[in-house]
Amino acid sequence: KQSRTNDIRTENSPLQIFVKAKKKINDIFLEIDDYVDDTVRFIDSLKDDHKIIAQEEVQKVEAYKDKVQGIRYVLKRDHMKVAFFGRTSNGKSTVINAMLRDKILPSGIGHTTNCFLQVEGSDGEEPYLITEGSDIKQPVQSVGQLGHALCKEKLCESNLVRIFWPKSKCLLLRDDVVFVDSPGVDVTPNLDEWIDKHCLDADVFVLVANAESTLMLAEKNFFHKVSTKLSKPNIFILNNRWDASASEPEFLDELDEQKEVRAQHQDRAVDFLARELRVYNTKDAEERVFFVSAKETLQARLKEQKGESAHSGALAEGFQNRYFEFQDFERKFEECISKSAVKTKFEQHTQRGKHISTEIRQTLNEILDRTQKMKAEQMNAQKEVRDKLNFTEQQLILLTQEMKDKIHRMVEDVEQRVSKALNE
Ligand code: GTP
Ligand code: MG
Repeated sequence: KQSRTNDIRTENSPLQIFVKAKKKINDIFLEIDDYVDDTVRFIDSLKDDHKIIAQEEVQKVEAYKDKVQGIRYVLKRDHMKVAFFGRTSNGKSTVINAMLRDKILPSGIGHTTNCFLQVEGSDGEEPYLITEGSDIKQPVQSVGQLGHALCKEKLCESNLVRIFWPKSKCLLLRDDVVFVDSPGVDVTPNLDEWIDKHCLDADVFVLVANAESTLMLAEKNFFHKVSTKLSKPNIFILNNRWDASASEPEFLDELDEQKEVRAQHQDRAVDFLARELRVYNTKDAEERVFFVSAKETLQARLKEQKGESAHSGALAEGFQNRYFEFQDFERKFEECISKSAVKTKFEQHTQRGKHISTEIRQTLNEILDRTQKMKAEQMNAQKEVRDKLNFTEQQLILLTQEMKDKIHRMVEDVEQRVSKALNE
């Protein structure tokens, strides 16, 4: 049953926009590769005849072969990248675990994530990790062991550890979404290095804020810097730990207070996105702010996977709404990341593919024109020779006729003279 619901989810997922586009562009580049191959082979077969193909033309077409191969290499590896930022303990690692439906990343009280952790899908069945500057695959058995492995390494906070998690265990990873977890933005003086190293190719940023406090300067500063380096980055704001702020209002005025807190957070977040960063207009910015509980969502999903109800156990009031809101966030996130990745990753390559096929067609057209011209010239030359021969032939015919007549006349003349002489 689980796999059937997974299939339905896959079919309907907006991530399919990217998945299908990626398949299509890879297929197209395979065709372009064949086309270039055929052209190179064809041109090679004409290469010795220097009159037809210029040396530069051969080099030009052969150079396209490397270019196309290079693009195909990049295209096969293209993915959608989402990066999570926020202050220490706001729940960044927990949000990622909730989205991946498994406890993959270590989370906990205090400063837990010490360096950048990238989770990406792998084809094998066993998870493993690779630390920066090494290509040794270290096996990962559990979250605890992952935490331990990370502590053992003397890692600098801007270092990247790549965690390869089996695609078979998670749909988002299978559809080529790559998650980047970061240490708290409040613990580093190296924001610029962080951005240059880890953010320039991110399709979506998620600011994990704490609904129990307001957006802090450290968080705002980080995104100000991001938006100076990237034009109009896609940013979502999750007001996490909403379960803690929203637990069981006993009186009506507490419920009102909750609504007021939510409205205040909402206004500030929208103001930050629309007026300060100017990445969205107010209406779009409102669609980018969510109130969720990553901890509850993760717990619910782990229960569902065991076949239990998401609602079982002790849950704070309003769990259902927070769970829905998390799912709503995921859907909007999937739509945003797949569209953005198609645009940023494939648009340029589509243009290049078009350029290459146009250039090759033009080269082949030029060669065709040239051969046609050469053929016409040859035919002209042949015609001249033929005309000359015809003329000579005519002349010869005329001449021989004339000769025959002359000889005839000479013979007659001689005969006449001879008979005349005899008579005399
Ligand atoms: P660092 O890696 O240290 O920067 O923290 P982080 O932002 O990754 O936070 P992490 O996910 O480690 O969560 C910190 C603590 O908050 C953990 O004990 C989580 O269980 C808890 N937590 C995370 N999300 C929620 C939530 O939505 N509600 C509640 N009540 N607790 C949460
Ligand atoms: Mg963390």
